[in-house]
Amino acid sequence: MSKADPLLFLKALKEDGVEHLYIPRKAPPKQAGGPTTESVKEGMLELREQVRKCKRCAELAKTRTQTVFGSGNIRAKLVFVGEAPGADEDKQGVPFVGRAGQLLTKIIEAMGLRREEAFICNVLKCRPPNNRPPAPAEVTHCQPFLKRQLELIRPKIICALGKHAAQSLLQTDRPISALRGTFSEYEGIPLMCTYHPAYLLRSPGEKGKVWEDMKKILQRLEESPE
Ligand code: URA
Repeated sequence: MSKADPLLFLKALKEDGVEHLYIPRKAPPKQAGGPTTESVKEGMLELREQVRKCKRCAELAKTRTQTVFGSGNIRAKLVFVGEAPGADEDKQGVPFVGRAGQLLTKIIEAMGLRREEAFICNVLKCRPPNNRPPAPAEVTHCQPFLKRQLELIRPKIICALGKHAAQSLLQTDRPISALRGTFSEYEGIPLMCTYHPAYLLRSPGEKGKVWEDMKKILQRLEESPE
């Protein structure tokens, strides 16, 4: 993947009328007394193996090159959840590495974070053929994996990217335009829904709204207790 250029994203945001960048203080360490990094790592490795072997969706198991579990910091304060791997992700086994992924990286860096500080995953862990939207049964089959990932990481904030992630986490069919912009909750964790970076590639005029959502995330991270 090419090195992301946060300045380009900031320039695009400025063009869309977004004036300033919000830079958070250094993230505090995880709370003492909670699960250890070693136990979270063990849980994630075990889960990754379950995902790797999964054949619940016969079509996806047959057509995938590999499963795409997720990547990043297993002790992240912020988790991004996308829709499903595309062709690039299926090839590399890493989420958000194509064009939409490069834009996501720019967004994260414009927030003053490094991509590796967050955890990034998808509702589906396998690529739907021809990048078709996830089928409801596929979302249901994959749900326990995402649920367990979030349970293990227990981030301060979840950010759902696009309609499929938002609707799946919130168990709703409300449109993303209505869900974005304010915090909802997933299993007691604040959840911000926003537009998917692939949508921003098609509709760059909407970048300002995503930036508003990211600023709310940064504000909430800043306020959240150790
Ligand atoms: N779009 C997604 O929702 N997820 C990816 O991993 C890549 C593109």
